[in-house]
Amino acid sequence: MLTKEYISELKSRGNGDIAALINMQKDVGSITYILENLGQLPDNFHADFLYTLLSHNHAQVRLNAVKNIAKLNGKGDIKPLLSLYPKESDTSVRREIVSAIGRQRKCANKPLLYAFLNDEDPKIVCQAIRGLLVFENDKDVEDHLKPLVNHQNEMVRTVIYKEYFAKEKSVKSVLPHAETYEFLKNVIVNADVLEALKYVPDESVHLTFTSPPYYNARDYSIYPSYQAYLEFLDKVFQETHRITKEGRFLIVNTSPIIIPRVSRAHSSKRYPIPFDLHPYLVKNGWEFIDDIVWLKPEYSVKNRVGGFHQHRKPLGYKPNTVTEYLMVYRKQTEKLLDWNIRSYDKKTVEESKVADGYETTNVWKIDPCFDKVHSAIFPVELCKRVIQYYSYKGDLVFDPFGGSGTVGRTAKALDRLFFLTEQEPKYFEYMKSKQKEQGVFKERATKFYTLNEFKNVIR
Ligand SMILES: C[S@@+](CC[C@H](N)C(=O)[O-])C[C@H]1O[C@@H](n2cnc3c(N)ncnc32)[C@H](O)[C@@H]1O
Repeated sequence: MLTKEYISELKSRGNGDIAALINMQKDVGSITYILENLGQLPDNFHADFLYTLLSHNHAQVRLNAVKNIAKLNGKGDIKPLLSLYPKESDTSVRREIVSAIGRQRKCANKPLLYAFLNDEDPKIVCQAIRGLLVFENDKDVEDHLKPLVNHQNEMVRTVIYKEYFAKEKSVKSVLPHAETYEFLKNVIVNADVLEALKYVPDESVHLTFTSPPYYNARDYSIYPSYQAYLEFLDKVFQETHRITKEGRFLIVNTSPIIIPRVSRAHSSKRYPIPFDLHPYLVKNGWEFIDDIVWLKPEYSVKNRVGGFHQHRKPLGYKPNTVTEYLMVYRKQTEKLLDWNIRSYDKKTVEESKVADGYETTNVWKIDPCFDKVHSAIFPVELCKRVIQYYSYKGDLVFDPFGGSGTVGRTAKALDRLFFLTEQEPKYFEYMKSKQKEQGVFKERATKFYTLNEFKNVIR
């Protein structure tokens, strides 16, 4: 029977026993198993059979043959790889060939790698770039790579940008990453968010979680047109981007909405807010990370399917909408998440770890919440998950559309700080009254400001 131990023993004999073993195999699975379990190859390894396998009719075998040739520490012959390349139809094998040539780290291979930069498959181009980047401070290599910052493919552009151009561009933050300004901690401002944000410094918040107004579907905000509404949100999230710390997250809760018909002679209109908002966010430097679906029980939503249930005529189908989106974005950066995480001390990282029982899928089944004063409040469970999964203890969580203050209260309960803006005096007062009723904002007392008071505090 084929085992890893047996393969390892034959390999160490170095006298062609592996080649003999491969020859005995009748099926692709066994050949692949042997090739995948060869591990490091000894100096005296008889590798001729690997070159024979380059003409095997199964791509998986060719792929593993190339991978093992790449392990021959620069001693492998690349000519057979180069002759296979133009005939090869499998993109993984093609990519592995480029990787094998790169891994030899030989100056003589540079012209070959330059040629791969013109390949039409961006994955091949990226692989060739990777092979060339090992030649550090090599003017010739730089001259070939730098122009690719204008390559048509975004992955290629990003790699080159990060390698050669990002360092000059990165802005130095005034505060250490884990810290924020005293004057923003547990603050609620009664103002139009765009007015309030004029006074908020760059790179102040760690996380934004919000549910913007639903265009004109609820009565707390009215916009002259859908375009005007999108442009307003565009401005809000541009400003949010400015005040967000490098590499941190924005989570926007929206869903398509319906504006009812004017009369029976007209049809109602549906507006796909999440999909229309997305291009604005990406254009402004928010990198799309995930779409989470908030799933509500069917009994909790408006019944739309009733008419169809009666007539059953195709085209008239209108499902009950039991979902909303949580679109997850990250402020674009060249830095990896590890960089963000390393900005916290060990204790904070340890204490912020998410406990067992966390949600493992992107479908979050949560009951909606209803409130006597505010018509569209977040369920606490939704806030809890977002705050726990996307922030550390002590972080500043921002909600530009504060409403009844669910984000603030939950942030506080999870040992985070909050900064909210809310335009409507009615909801601002409601948040104040909740503070009195429940004492939820106590401990680090919440500061409730008018716009003028906020301006003065910041000055
Ligand atoms: C969907 S509700 C948010 C509810 C909130 N998530 C909660 O749990 O209570 C949107 C809120 O944004 C507020 N709002 C609308 N336009 C605003 C603006 N320009 N600046 C600040 N708040 C605004 C509305 O008054 C409303 O309370």
